[in-house]
Amino acid sequence: MKVLVVGGGGREHTLVWKISQSPLVDKVYCAPGNGGIAKLAECIDIKAMDFENLVKFAEENKIDLTVIGPDDPLAAGIVDVFEARGLRVFGPGKDAAMIEGSKVFSKNLMKKYGIPTAAYEVFDNSKEAVEYLRNVSYPAVVKAEGLALGKGVIIARNYDEAVQAVKEIMDDKVFGQAGNRVVIEEFLAGQEVSILAFTDGTTVVPMVSAQDHKRAYDHDQGLNTGGMGTFSPSRIYTPEIAAYCMENIFKPTVQAMNQEGRKFKGILYFGLILTKDGPKVLEYNARFGDPETQVVLPRLKSDLVEIFNAVIDERLSEVKVEWEDNAAVCVVMASGGYPQKYYTGYPIEGIEDAELIEGVTVFHAGTKLIDGKIVTAGGRVLGVTAIGSNLDEAIKTAYEGVSKISFKDMHYRKDIGIK
Ligand code: AMP
Ligand code: GLY
Repeated sequence: MKVLVVGGGGREHTLVWKISQSPLVDKVYCAPGNGGIAKLAECIDIKAMDFENLVKFAEENKIDLTVIGPDDPLAAGIVDVFEARGLRVFGPGKDAAMIEGSKVFSKNLMKKYGIPTAAYEVFDNSKEAVEYLRNVSYPAVVKAEGLALGKGVIIARNYDEAVQAVKEIMDDKVFGQAGNRVVIEEFLAGQEVSILAFTDGTTVVPMVSAQDHKRAYDHDQGLNTGGMGTFSPSRIYTPEIAAYCMENIFKPTVQAMNQEGRKFKGILYFGLILTKDGPKVLEYNARFGDPETQVVLPRLKSDLVEIFNAVIDERLSEVKVEWEDNAAVCVVMASGGYPQKYYTGYPIEGIEDAELIEGVTVFHAGTKLIDGKIVTAGGRVLGVTAIGSNLDEAIKTAYEGVSKISFKDMHYRKDIGIK
């Protein structure tokens, strides 16, 4: 098979890495890819949102399967475009991807089907939202309706901060059209766990659990980022909690999407928070998480391409999805200044040395290959990932890998996996 992966971050590097291990696969392409992906796949200079050229490429090169990584093309309907041209593609269609693309849709879905989540109200004008904020308890959470690169969620400590958030989102439109409506919701306290699941619209198969470290600095200080590191498994996601989530969250969500006429086929990502009143859904994503994928897929024993095929053909119940009994940790090495202003183009040293350590794989998030040299090209640059027989071992190995790597102004957290 010839496989095309769409996207160019750490998640896509991990997908390419796992897909290229499949005996079913002869050749992997990635559009646009990055400096690390270029070692495993042929990178094609087409952007993830350029559907017309992606389809043309898939047709001309007789691609057997296209796998979509990021949320934006899914929300914009890339899967529908591929299917309309008779091309085989992995991911939810536009109607189903709305579960991530609109927080109003997903919150209403959970309310309608009794799926546990934070209490909330939706507003389409800022006056009413501000009025409502007088009577809520703080902290309160203000969310822009649409996709905002993970930045459209503000935890407001008091009325003034909440009002400012509503005004920025709805009046100043700092997230553009994503801010046409806001969701104001109850603040939930607890640890967050990410569960990614394969689903063909009927069967749902959760992957091993993962936890993400979203803040920029150690001990959860600093701004929210796309993710500074992950580990798997979670120490707090017990088999009892998993069983509860299966019956009360995972299966009901898949069934709810069916009943709404939005059959979801692909990766459904459950962003859970374990509160004292039980697990609740913070958010859904319609794709693999980044950097959760970097710690989940290396633990997958089974052939990922076989699972993708089963999802597309709606026979997921027939395949065995098996996991290693081990642990994985991914430490993100970021550009100095990320998630705010940062510079790129700095040469990176030591990646090969890190990968000489047993169990270490370096997934590239934002790199470019220029004249045979890997240079920084994004906020999150590398995800140094290690497998170990348990979390402590994986943490130690991952940081050994990190210690071999250097680039100007690099920044990483020293406490990944310790939660
Ligand atoms: P979301 O994009 O909705 O997952 O929100 C991004 C992040 O904001 C989450 O991962 C949480 O850390 C935080 N968050 C969102 N909603 C809530 C809530 N209701 N209570 C507490 N934290 C929240
Ligand atoms: N790591 C969070 C996400 O992929 O949305």
